[in-house]
Amino acid sequence: MNIIDKTWNFVTKELENEYSGHDINHIKRVHKIGMQIANKIECDKFVVEMAIILHDVDDPKITKVKTDDCIITRKFLNTLNIDVKQIEEICNIINNMSFSKNKEIKRSLTLEGKIVQDADRIDALGAVGIARTFQFGGQNNREMENSIQHFDDKLLKLYSLLNTTEAKEIAKPRYDFIVNFYNQIKQEMDI
Ligand code: ADP
Ligand code: NI
Repeated sequence: MNIIDKTWNFVTKELENEYSGHDINHIKRVHKIGMQIANKIECDKFVVEMAIILHDVDDPKITKVKTDDCIITRKFLNTLNIDVKQIEEICNIINNMSFSKNKEIKRSLTLEGKIVQDADRIDALGAVGIARTFQFGGQNNREMENSIQHFDDKLLKLYSLLNTTEAKEIAKPRYDFIVNFYNQIKQEMDI
């Protein structure tokens, strides 16, 4: 079996029973978007693809432990026949791409990292982004107003934070869609 297929198998198992918005279909959508961006840019497509498939395995929302290194991912990568340099590049992307880690100080990312970060952020926009937000809120026993606050805190900021013009092109209609939704729901919920 090739490395990419082995990685899909590993991640499918790791994300089994995962309903916090990081299920395997999130990974498949980010993969589709990310490879679409990567194919338009001169970059290391293997690193992009591996980082996408593995990007949520060590997410603290899933593992419930906060670390600054993707321990589970690294252990898996060490079992594969990949260059040490590429393992470091993949882990560096996963360790530095999250929104929360970039809140205070913007962490530096390689071109490949910028592509992966853009693809992940695009899946937080559009109809899917809206659905994920309310699914997350429900699963964490939060009221609807709390999830709407998440639009202010994060979702509405994502478009202007995108790194690549290729991503902006894909994201624009999805961003416009959530802006409309946000304005509409604010109106309807005005009591
Ligand atoms: P990603 O996998 O894209 O890095 P996150 O881990 O930030 O995303 O969150 C997964 C999903 O849950 C996203 O769609 C995000 O908008 C949503 N989400 C995260 N935090 C909150 C929150 N506090 N309230 C509502 N939705 C949230
Ligand atoms: Ni993700």
